[in-house]
Amino acid sequence: APRVKALVAGNWKMNGLKASKKEVSGLARLLAKSKRVRCDVLVCPPATLIPLLKEEARGSKVAVGAQDCHAKVSGAHTGDISAEMLKDAGASYVIVGHSERRADHGETDAVVRAKAEAAHRAGLVAIVCVGETEAQRDARETLKVIRGQLKGSLPADATAKTTIVAYEPVWAIGTGRTPTAQDVAKVHAAIRGALVKRFGDEGAAMRILYGGSVKPSNAVELMGVENVNGALVGGASLKAEDFFGIISAYI
Ligand code: G3P
Repeated sequence: APRVKALVAGNWKMNGLKASKKEVSGLARLLAKSKRVRCDVLVCPPATLIPLLKEEARGSKVAVGAQDCHAKVSGAHTGDISAEMLKDAGASYVIVGHSERRADHGETDAVVRAKAEAAHRAGLVAIVCVGETEAQRDARETLKVIRGQLKGSLPADATAKTTIVAYEPVWAIGTGRTPTAQDVAKVHAAIRGALVKRFGDEGAAMRILYGGSVKPSNAVELMGVENVNGALVGGASLKAEDFFGIISAYI
């Protein structure tokens, strides 16, 4: 299997004001002190903060991304933001298909796929999220659900450079509950299998992140699981020290 450089990504969700830039400068300082960090680092704030945080992160290891984009380049779509605009604002990544968007905004796999294609068109790396609900898990449908979401949400031309998959079990998001390492290994192996089958060598090299209640105290175990190539972190990404504690799994 190819060596895949890990990514630890923070998803701030609808949290953060201008004053939050100090978390990014704090993070940059912690990273500068620790030259041995072997992963890439990304912060995805609300879109209003992208230019400010990009400026704050200048000269550091910290990349800035967005949490969603519209599929179109521009036009009559009140309240929406295109991938091109996010790129222009300083983003280099965009999360698409987060379970909160799928649930709150009824985003289907087809919508998520169009957004991922828009990200690629704009030169952004798409972080495509998949994950089963608790009911689906209880019905032992996890792998079927994940395979279906991957099939429907990933663009045909996805490569390891342009696309990242994030596995976030919906019941583990913000709950403090996580799957066991064995369960994570099983799902990530299935995702890897599906990626290799569809994308060949590119699928073998694609990053697969785990997300859902990742914190400093469980990061080493979760990040040590085979086919886990990093984390997508919500709550614990809001404070520089906590986030750095997770990043430290890669020191
Ligand atoms: O996208 C990351 C997120 O859904 C996980 O949230 O707060 O459980 O780390 P949290």
